[in-house]
Amino acid sequence: MKLSFSLSFFYFLLLAYICSGSASAKSFSALPLRFRKNGHFKILQVADMHYANGKTTPCEDVLPNQMATCSDLNTTAFINRLIQAENPDLIVFTGDNIFGSDATDAGKSLNFAFAPAVESKVPWAAVLGNHDQESDLSREGLMKHIVSMKYTVAQVNPSEADVIDGFGNYNVEIGGVQGSRVENKSLLNLYFLDSGDYSTVPSIRGYGWIKPSQQFWFQQTSIKLKNAYIKNPEAQKGSAPGLAYFHIPLPEYASFDSTNSTGVNGEHAISSASINSGFFSTLLKAGDVKAVFTGHDHLNDFCGNLTGIHLCYAGGFGYHAYGKAGWDRRARVVLATLKKTKNNGWGAVKSIRTWKRLDNQYLTAIDPQVLWTN
Ligand SMILES: *[C@@H]1O[C@H](CO)[C@@H](O)[C@H](O)[C@H]1NC(C)=O
Ligand SMILES: *[C@@H]1O[C@H](CO)[C@@H](O)[C@H](O)[C@H]1NC(C)=O
Ligand SMILES: *[C@@H]1O[C@H](CO)[C@@H](O)[C@H](O)[C@H]1NC(C)=O
Ligand SMILES: *[C@@H]1O[C@H](CO)[C@@H](O)[C@H](O)[C@H]1NC(C)=O
Repeated sequence: MKLSFSLSFFYFLLLAYICSGSASAKSFSALPLRFRKNGHFKILQVADMHYANGKTTPCEDVLPNQMATCSDLNTTAFINRLIQAENPDLIVFTGDNIFGSDATDAGKSLNFAFAPAVESKVPWAAVLGNHDQESDLSREGLMKHIVSMKYTVAQVNPSEADVIDGFGNYNVEIGGVQGSRVENKSLLNLYFLDSGDYSTVPSIRGYGWIKPSQQFWFQQTSIKLKNAYIKNPEAQKGSAPGLAYFHIPLPEYASFDSTNSTGVNGEHAISSASINSGFFSTLLKAGDVKAVFTGHDHLNDFCGNLTGIHLCYAGGFGYHAYGKAGWDRRARVVLATLKKTKNNGWGAVKSIRTWKRLDNQYLTAIDPQVLWTN
């Protein structure tokens, strides 16, 4: 009797603990994310912060007279200014968030690096690059730390995939305007993938790539989302548009020159994996993803249309990352806009546009372009 009483009391405590845990997790970032009342959803992409230890960490590739006053804190200041100026609905950090080999405590560096998102309470997502794991946390450890932070929508990996390569593969659905008929339907699908760090196949040198297990998960997710979309009363034929975010560019990024892309290839090169694992053709076949966004090559910030899918860089963001002195650090903004319906409601996504912002006095917006229209 005594035993069963204390046992049930124990279960009561356990239940109370679990409930309080999930309740507080929900209050972190109000899921689902939704389009605003004005029919807009805006994403700020931050690539390659290369954060280390804060104010003691010097800058790379700034003008000689800027050296003495420049540190990781300039990276923080740039994000804060962008959040003020753009008021994004989501911030996406596309890897090399921290520069592991200079970060003495990876957890602290992550906290520092993502602090502007956490403090502004803007929901945020992150994937890993090839440098994040060079400090004292593994790639799994980094993603576990990230998902424990406030206001993040990141996941270590999808719960429905039994076996998947990497850490930080997940999708996020963007619901319709609150109060509309499609408030619980995803009108915009975001995919986040771990493009790895380096090849683990001895005979293949160079960077990592998106593996078959991840592509299989992407295909299954895309089909599931399409099936849900068809049941959407306001939706048109086809699928909701999708956007994919990861770190290392696909080999197909080499398909452009200055005549058919917007922005620059300042590296005169694309540092993708040395083999092609076929993710671009997987995306083409799925048909829903309209644009891919990566980082990795800090001096490349172009965006080009390859057979209906835009392949875009954000350009280098962080001050403790290689760059080019006198060439402003930058970020990419994406804005999706819904179609107005006759009865003054909102329908499916009508257009997806992008531009970049430079870290100068005016946060100059450059290179506006249309990625997709419906
Ligand atoms: C870095 O921040 C300091 C302090 O606000 C500022 O004086 C300096 O101009 C900034 N450097 C760059 C390269 O933006
Ligand atoms: C959306 O989901 C919420 C919570 O489950 C529910 O209260 C609301 O009625 C749903 N909206 C529509 C349009 O179905
Ligand atoms: C861009 O133009 C170059 C020639 O200037 C061509 O070789 C390349 O195939 C074009 N790329 C696309 C995606 O059209
Ligand atoms: C991208 O290219 C495809 C054909 O390859 C074309 O149908 C589509 O209109 C282009 N998209 C934009 C936004 O220009």
